[in-house]
Amino acid sequence: KSIVVLISGNGSNLQAIIDACESGIIENAKVTAVLSNKADAFGLERAKQAGIDALHLAASDYSDRADFDQAMAKRIDEYQPDLVILAGFMRILSGEFVRHYQGRMINIHPSLLPKYTGLNTHQRAIDAGDSEHGTSVHFVTEELDGGPVILQAKVPIFAEDTAEEVMGRVQEQEHRIYPLVANWCLQQRAHMDGETAFFD
Ligand code: GRF
Repeated sequence: KSIVVLISGNGSNLQAIIDACESGIIENAKVTAVLSNKADAFGLERAKQAGIDALHLAASDYSDRADFDQAMAKRIDEYQPDLVILAGFMRILSGEFVRHYQGRMINIHPSLLPKYTGLNTHQRAIDAGDSEHGTSVHFVTEELDGGPVILQAKVPIFAEDTAEEVMGRVQEQEHRIYPLVANWCLQQRAHMDGETAFFD
């Protein structure tokens, strides 16, 4: 099976996915390409290290979002992906792009959705006085951070925690749950039906 991963930055979740393909946590699949909208994304280095095609497309080379997204889809589809994984891909996707991969594109968002869509989730959870925080893997729909949740992991927030400390705790969980969900999707154990995720 073929997985294409979209990134914009560090790519620690990408690394977890690559490692899980090698260890067999993700069964019979490999990351065939990594695509970044940022030329300096460290995740592109991780891809090269692993012998995976590392692609960069700059939004500034395209006239608008629809045009850029079409170019991305064209590159991605050369790899005939069974699953498209957003792993720290920091760009809003057009409806057309999202619909094209509906049911076979997942994202990880660092909050216990539906709480804290958008950015700065760790600081916002601290500022709200929350005692727990976490991460959610969900199918991607046209609503930003709004698609059906497949799996979440919770972490505690302790008094005096900084956003960085909470983020570290969250990411440790992300690296565990994202490969599990990727495997469920690839093995057709998790599906999307309209607004809900269901499991076989
Ligand atoms: C992750 O925390 C993820 O939840 C969010 O962006 C971060 C990406 O980190 N969407 P990395 O690039 O995988 O290290």
